Amino acid sequence: MNVKQQLAELLAERLEGVTAEQLAETIEYPPNPQMGDLSLPCFKLSKLLRKSPQAIAEGLAGEWSAHPLFSRIEAVNGYFNVFLEPGAFIGSVLGEVLSQKDSYGSQNIGQGRSIVIDFSSPNIAKTFHIGHLRSTVIGNALYNIFQFLGYRCVGVNHLGDWGTQFGKLIVAYKLWGDKAAVEADGIAELQRIYVKFHDEAEAKPELEDEARSWFVRLEQGDEEALALWRWFVDISLKEFHKMYDLLGVKFDSYAGESFYNDKMAAVLDELKEKQLLEEDDGALLVRLDDYDMPPALMVKKDGGTLYHTRDVTAAIYRKNTYDFEKAIYVTDAGQSLHFNQWFKVIELMGYDWAKQLVHVPFGKVSLEGAKLSTRKGNVINLEELLTKAIEKTREIIDEKNPDMPNKDEVARKVGVGAIIFNDLSNNRIKNIVFSWDEALNFDGETGPYVQYTHARACSVLRKAGISTSEGLGFGIEQVDAGLLANEEAFAAVKEIYLFRERVEQAMYKLEPSIISRYLVDLAQAFNRFYHECSILNVEDEALRKARLTLVKGVQQTLKNGLALIGLEAPEQI
Ligand code: ARG
Repeated sequence: MNVKQQLAELLAERLEGVTAEQLAETIEYPPNPQMGDLSLPCFKLSKLLRKSPQAIAEGLAGEWSAHPLFSRIEAVNGYFNVFLEPGAFIGSVLGEVLSQKDSYGSQNIGQGRSIVIDFSSPNIAKTFHIGHLRSTVIGNALYNIFQFLGYRCVGVNHLGDWGTQFGKLIVAYKLWGDKAAVEADGIAELQRIYVKFHDEAEAKPELEDEARSWFVRLEQGDEEALALWRWFVDISLKEFHKMYDLLGVKFDSYAGESFYNDKMAAVLDELKEKQLLEEDDGALLVRLDDYDMPPALMVKKDGGTLYHTRDVTAAIYRKNTYDFEKAIYVTDAGQSLHFNQWFKVIELMGYDWAKQLVHVPFGKVSLEGAKLSTRKGNVINLEELLTKAIEKTREIIDEKNPDMPNKDEVARKVGVGAIIFNDLSNNRIKNIVFSWDEALNFDGETGPYVQYTHARACSVLRKAGISTSEGLGFGIEQVDAGLLANEEAFAAVKEIYLFRERVEQAMYKLEPSIISRYLVDLAQAFNRFYHECSILNVEDEALRKARLTLVKGVQQTLKNGLALIGLEAPEQI
């Protein structure tokens, strides 16, 4: 059911020259229910219709005829306010949730068209830092959202697994490396010798030449170089996978930068053919002066390719392979220029799909009371961050609910959820300061709060003998939905109703925080209802049934929303 659309269509019939789409975009949900459940502000229409807003509203009111869903209307100060018939609206919303279950809120907007989402994309042999965590969490949420809306999603982990740094790492390993230490400490050890390389190279610049020559050997397929490189990749992937498993994130492709090694030459030829490459002191670049951007360097003086070269090549490959409707790149805002540059290169190559390339930037994360990156190579360890979140949650659970079964599993779901939710709780472009107390606050606007509310709803259902997996045991036709017309219940139903719209907005704005904020609203509306209205102790059987139906509706909607942003919904906390 889409009440906004229904009202828009109804009003479009009465307003000549205005389409239902325009009206649907204009209709609002007034925050104060006294001003209607839906409201059309007539100001924007005033010019078009050559009438005052109030005259338009009154005109609509005058022509109004009785409607089963919209029971009352009024024209006030240029607004046309509409009140829903509670029974009809509530019955229909809850009926949808009960019948659609895990797919409540989904739509088939995408109709199977493809969206490629490039996210996480950490660098081999380098720490998976908090920016990669944000990319992972945001990208994963976008993946789920697009998929929920009927798109075929391809999640690509564009691993940073190529580049001159591997020449340096090989030299460092040959000079100071220790197999056992790398096997034991993984990336931390690789990072340590890499940092040592930089320190030593300051005094001994010949190390740099050696590194360059090792990278050339690597590019030429030298066995020894390749074997070491592969080993660095494996060691790193093992660590990344631990993180992805904890976060519950999967990728459809791990084609990293090295995947494009044999594909760049053709692209460089194409650039040459299209007369886009210019030589500059031995290097090859695409000038972007006309677009107020520095040139995009494509080939270095020594013949090496770059991040840009690989991104251009990867985009062409992805277009040919997946025929995407959109290719999304989730990275920190610091890379905006990089993306704008090579998006422009694709456009200059004459590809009209350049406009389907979208950079989704996000702000920085810092940790309260600690510096994330104090010295070169000394960055916060994310696995530790997640482990600590799980431990802290475990302590809270031990205090709150010591007899609960599966405490470890729940602590994992809630602890990890707290970190994910914290990353998604504000507009992505905002910088965030991570605070343990805030992220784990069960009463704040947090993941644990939403998960806890979900568990509370499950507990009510359980006490009523209703299993969350099997449904209520009675159908919506047996429910007198009109009994949920009191303020708190009605407000909660309206939140449930808004879910589908919010998911759609989150997709169009590429903004998962719309869903996390929505979930807090829904949880708050439910908790108000829970505190104001008895559920299990109600004598009247019909009222009890109606209230349990609402609890089920909230529980299902919270679960669906949490899943979209990558959080699990334990039934007990
Ligand atoms: N590896 C890069 C980094 O760590 C991110 C890659 C993003 N994706 C891309 N296609 N450029 O900063």
